Amino acid sequence: MLTRESPAAREVRVVRTRAELREALSAARRPVGLVPTMGWLHAGHRALIERAQAENATTVVSIFVNPKQFGDPADLERYPRNEARDVEICAESGADLVFAPSVEEIYPPGFDTSVHVGAIAEPLEGAARPGHFDGVATVVAILFNLVGAERAYFGQKDAQQLLVIRQMARDLAIATEVVAHPTVREPDGLALSSRNVHLTPEERAAAPVLRRALLAARARWEAGERSGEALRQELRDVLATESLATPEYVSAADTGTLQELDHLAGPALLSMAVQFGSTRLIDNELLP
Ligand code: PAJ
Repeated sequence: MLTRESPAAREVRVVRTRAELREALSAARRPVGLVPTMGWLHAGHRALIERAQAENATTVVSIFVNPKQFGDPADLERYPRNEARDVEICAESGADLVFAPSVEEIYPPGFDTSVHVGAIAEPLEGAARPGHFDGVATVVAILFNLVGAERAYFGQKDAQQLLVIRQMARDLAIATEVVAHPTVREPDGLALSSRNVHLTPEERAAAPVLRRALLAARARWEAGERSGEALRQELRDVLATESLATPEYVSAADTGTLQELDHLAGPALLSMAVQFGSTRLIDNELLP
């Protein structure tokens, strides 16, 4: 398939089985860059694909809505999908190969293994979404093994996911280098997410409060505030100005362990999960 809208567009081949993937990769030029996704691609995914394309000879994008990382079947059910559009975006962004397997192709009958990452997967998203990171670590380990890429690209937007995947790859001796890419945002600061499509117009208008809260806490930190609780309170205070926002957690944590900090002596991760109606949004800011 060839799209002509962008000069970067090239032919992209879509493969669905492990055998097709292996065959396509046997002829691929190295190094290979992998961008794992669940589809419904947006400018955040696009940035990862373009980065992979710039840094590797072959770029593989996987599109797989991974049932094992959804706790709530209704959440899985309503996850947005549009493969034809996703494949077009992959072509425009410079991908060479799209791996779009069925659930059975990833988890064949009899599949009975789970990859469980320890302490780094426990707080924050791990506490809020039990089993979520087992599902993520399991599917990413499978994708890493199937593709055998030199590098794989992940968004800083899912900061804990990135740390969990780094830990998994290191512990399982997977040679793929895990590369982090900055969060891509709407002009009003809202981090791009496949879930934004579920926001009502009123919720969408309220959603940039996440970014405002993070920037307010960052400003306090830049002004010298080093109390973890004061920074968490700043996040809560700004979120409280938006009646449609129901905070689930706010955090000022150590970037290595994700444990909450009383006092910030080094790098820290400010992060939050906030519910808007039926839609749950996350965002974060790294303090160097
Ligand atoms: P998905 O939500 O589709 O995200 C795929 C990749 O895009 C992730 O690395 C995510 O961090 C990154 N991403 C999402 N929004 C972004 C943004 N606004 N800016 C930059 N990067 C962004 O994350 C997953 O899928 C899954 O958990 C997956 C890793 C594919 C395993 O199933």
